[in-house]
Amino acid sequence: MGSCFSARIKAESPPRNGVNTKYAGKSGNDKSGSSSKVSSSTVPSTPRTQGEILQSSNLKSFSFSELKAATRNFRPDSVLGEGGFGCVFKGWIDEHSLTAAKPGTGTVIAVKRLNQESSQGHQEWLAEINYLGQLYHPNLVKLIGYCLEDDHRLLVYEFMPKGSLENHLFRRASYFQPLSWNLRMKVALDAAKGLEYLHSDKAKVIYRDFKASNILLDSNYRAKLSDFGLAKDGPTGSKSHVSTRIMGTYGYAAPEYMATGHLTARSDVYSFGVVLLEMLSGRRAIDKNRPSKEQNLVEWARPYLSSKRRIFQVMDARIQGQYSSSDALKAANLAIQCLSAEPKYRPHMEAVVKALEQLNNSNDNDGSKGSHGENPLRVNRSSSNGPKYHRKNVNEVSNGKPASYAGPYISPLRT
Ligand SMILES: Nc1ncnc2c1ncn2[C@@H]1O[C@H](COP(=O)(O)OP(=O)(O)OP(=O)(O)O)[C@@H](O)[C@H]1O
Ligand SMILES: [Mg+2]
Repeated sequence: MGSCFSARIKAESPPRNGVNTKYAGKSGNDKSGSSSKVSSSTVPSTPRTQGEILQSSNLKSFSFSELKAATRNFRPDSVLGEGGFGCVFKGWIDEHSLTAAKPGTGTVIAVKRLNQESSQGHQEWLAEINYLGQLYHPNLVKLIGYCLEDDHRLLVYEFMPKGSLENHLFRRASYFQPLSWNLRMKVALDAAKGLEYLHSDKAKVIYRDFKASNILLDSNYRAKLSDFGLAKDGPTGSKSHVSTRIMGTYGYAAPEYMATGHLTARSDVYSFGVVLLEMLSGRRAIDKNRPSKEQNLVEWARPYLSSKRRIFQVMDARIQGQYSSSDALKAANLAIQCLSAEPKYRPHMEAVVKALEQLNNSNDNDGSKGSHGENPLRVNRSSSNGPKYHRKNVNEVSNGKPASYAGPYISPLRT
């Protein structure tokens, strides 16, 4: 994690259309083949004051010195991870007063510190506070507070002891044992419930950054969604979508969103399908270390997913024997539907939750696998053959942008 203390911008693309685009790197041994983050940097200049933070949020405003004390001066050995925003440190606070506590006492927290050179920055910091300060659900990570002092911007979260799903699926270190089939299905269900809540009338939020690194696990492997920096209010009234700058992560972002910037809840459903496929296969959405035909997981896996005979070529060999073929096919069928090229063929998250509940029940009732209960999802084998959205699909993404997309696409990539 040494890179947390050196310049993290690994490269910077030449300005296009007069706008600076950045490529911000990630650390980690096993991340070379990981996905790249897309975000346009035409962020309007905004007032950078406490006034931007919604008054109703019930968050603590920490001073920088408090967080310095809580993390023992951001000690390198307390780094939990690093993303495009900056490093995440482990710290301790008193559970009642929320002031810095001795290491090992009180409540453990995770403190995310924005890099000065971050490609994400103030807007995402603010969005995180304003969304997570308002939204509460057992499958969303809890934001405890924030710090805004001079140029310092930090976020303080509940500590998630098991780290990210990404680490569990893709890190080969001995600390990360491969997640079992049962745990994968439980994590998928928890994450689906988080998205279901966001899409519900109570929240009406499009998450826009659903990916394995943003799914965090507590000590009981309960999954919670983190990182609301890219979240957007869903469309209102008769509108079918919200128009946005194209932001997200290659490999996870829905093709029609990449092509048009039109964002709907179904874009999140597509990303959910990608993560489900990552869980089934143990492969990354984009993996540059694989042979060229296998680098894009969705494109490579699609032909295998609906075949009882061929599905095993996709399944993660490390969990072989832990599931019935009927459950594997059901999970694969769910992924196929979420990944439909045409957004309207993708299920609502409510239906995804129901399907995953059945799969989880099937795990609980070992031995009676797969045969009971009505499938809440249509078996829609034709969805990927159905009327197709004319898409610039993920295969066409090269050098950071869809090859045939001519619009104002600004794409700093994180690799
Ligand atoms: N609340 C937390 N508890 C424990 N570990 C955390 C917590 N938040 C983040 N981490 C760790 O820090 C890592 C970096 O998180 P961060 O959200 O900054 O980046 P990312 O999601 O990996 O990438 P990106 O910036 O592209 O979203 C996570 O993958 C996870 O391992
Ligand atoms: Mg994250």
